[in-house]
Amino acid sequence: MPINIAMDGPVGAGKSTIADCVANALGILHLDTGAMYRAVGVTALKRGIDPCDEEKVTEMCRSLVLDVSYAKDGQHTYADGEDVTGILRTEEASMAASKVATYPGVRAQMVEAQQRMAKNHDMLVDGRDIGTRVLADAPVKIYLTASPEVRARRRYLQLQEKGTSDTYEKVLADLIERDRQDMNRKTDPLRKAEDAVEVDTSELTFDESVQEILRIVKEALGVG
Ligand code: DC
Repeated sequence: MPINIAMDGPVGAGKSTIADCVANALGILHLDTGAMYRAVGVTALKRGIDPCDEEKVTEMCRSLVLDVSYAKDGQHTYADGEDVTGILRTEEASMAASKVATYPGVRAQMVEAQQRMAKNHDMLVDGRDIGTRVLADAPVKIYLTASPEVRARRRYLQLQEKGTSDTYEKVLADLIERDRQDMNRKTDPLRKAEDAVEVDTSELTFDESVQEILRIVKEALGVG
């Protein structure tokens, strides 16, 4: 049986980077499932399909082959064989991903693909429905969170480094809107699994967050 670790939490809690570090320290893979929803969103945009058109996006998704591979610089995500990793992190991609992630038909395809990947590998899987749905039986579940203001500040600084001109207020408003979409959708909304351990990183540094999660994981798995 592979070791599966579920990690969920809202946008900007630092999940992806923290998960990368934790998985590295444990010597296991890290599956970023948000990248898969982003890949669906950007593929729709590239094909001229409105992300708000549930029927067309779901239809597109039925035949879309999503895959991931691992390189030195982390996870690469492919849509029908094309590496779309470089275009997944724009605000446009974020909004499209949040929209397409509300569609049950899209989610069903993603959940199945993620379960297939986790079945064959020791993996830390991060997303929104991992502890509640994708890996409902995972032996370790983490719910990573932080206040909206702290999350927006972090995201704003990241975007500034990339040269984006969005104001902090816009980043905060977008983040609150994405929280609303993620937490209120009908199918598998973001929520903490009953047996997940909550880690609030508002007052923690990056290293402290990683260490705290490693401590929780090792304790749960009974390893030193
Ligand atoms: O983690 P992220 O910001 O890259 O995720 C992009 C979007 O996909 C986000 O709006 C939430 C959604 N998502 C989801 O609904 N379920 C997942 N397992 C992962 C992400």
